Amino acid sequence: MSCDTSSIREDFPILNRDVEGSHLVYLDNAATTQTPEQVYGIYEDFYTRYNSNIHRGIHTLSHEASVAYEEAHDKVAEFIGASGGRKEVIFTKNTTESVNLVAYGLGMDELGAGDEIITTEMDHHATLVTCQQIAKKTGAEIKYIEVQNDGQLDIEQAKEIIGDDTALLAVPHVSNVLGTINPVQELAALAHEYDAYILVDGAQSAPTRPIDVEHLDVDFFTFSGHKMAGPTGIGGLYGKQHLLEEMTPFLYGGEMIQHVSLRDATWNDLPWKFEAGTPPVAEGIALAAAIEYLEEIGMETVRQHENELAQYALERLEARNHVETYGPPSGTERSGLVAFNVEGVHGHDLSSLLNNRGIAVRAGDHCTQPLHDALDIPGSVRASFYVYNTTEEIDQLLNAIDSAAADLPDYLASDCYHASLSTITSPTTASWMTPRSRSPIRR
Ligand code: ALA
Repeated sequence: MSCDTSSIREDFPILNRDVEGSHLVYLDNAATTQTPEQVYGIYEDFYTRYNSNIHRGIHTLSHEASVAYEEAHDKVAEFIGASGGRKEVIFTKNTTESVNLVAYGLGMDELGAGDEIITTEMDHHATLVTCQQIAKKTGAEIKYIEVQNDGQLDIEQAKEIIGDDTALLAVPHVSNVLGTINPVQELAALAHEYDAYILVDGAQSAPTRPIDVEHLDVDFFTFSGHKMAGPTGIGGLYGKQHLLEEMTPFLYGGEMIQHVSLRDATWNDLPWKFEAGTPPVAEGIALAAAIEYLEEIGMETVRQHENELAQYALERLEARNHVETYGPPSGTERSGLVAFNVEGVHGHDLSSLLNNRGIAVRAGDHCTQPLHDALDIPGSVRASFYVYNTTEEIDQLLNAIDSAAADLPDYLASDCYHASLSTITSPTTASWMTPRSRSPIRR
């Protein structure tokens, strides 16, 4: 079945707004997707009917909030194929917190000198930096699976470096820059052959394709609500129940305890053992609503739509001599995103030029500096698609790209350009603004 984008778009009023006098074309979905009425409407319902704390009050509002929040865990479990239900789903702030939970809850206890953590050159900083720090703290060594020229992980090299010393393998299911879909099931089998754990970053896969954590046989799987039509401030960690039972809590405080004395404490049942303090109640319920929304469309339909848009964009970008694309070439299934550079136009300038036509993309290193080092480029421009995007919007992107070189001189002379230099403040972005990279990107 194909994605009925015109009816889906009616659920997202934000898509009707204008930017810089043009109709918004939102192509920054790998960073954050838009949220439908069915999801943001949850906030009004929650805050006008049953806003209260959970598991703490013997009153109707607390009971209703507790039940809805607990059932949200069940909904997530069903969505990702976790047969242990809510006991295998921890709500966190986002993917980054989920990765840190595994790193501290398992890594700090189980890793030591002589152990190896294997991750990849294409990992997001959420995993890569966290693995680096846990390696430093525990004395473990970190090794990387390389990315080949075709944007795929080098599985032969992975087989060489994964071995008896491997304690943890951490890989992204889908690359947030290359759109590559990694062979997670094969990697999980490889890790388990050596009794290593596998942690999969599902931030880009949970929103875009059917997930079955048990079929994949992964030990841990992470995701973020705001990349799957849900709100910010909520994400999740799937973990095999027996592993979560054994792990040390990451955060301590209320809610996660069973019994507390002046000398010690015992821990609550799963998943609450890992959800210290007042949790994101409305956000959790809204995440369940986002999942219901995606299930209505059908995750297989979402997967097909993502791939179709990626192929449509990629074929046309590849046909342009002045554009360089990254990741698997057209004809290979990809997630719905394309990263590229346009000869002679710096990525930030291109992003601004596109914004002047109402088109939102992301430019920079996309939290993957080592990957961009491996590609030997300072950054890239990324267009990423979701259930409401259309080929007509991609045509608008392509037209704007084709006009970019001609539009550039006026833009560089404009106040807008000078303002962009002073408003770029994030360290990631600022590092791309060095003299080396402010010159036109080489091909
Ligand atoms: N991880 C997000 C991205 O790729 C922020 O844009």
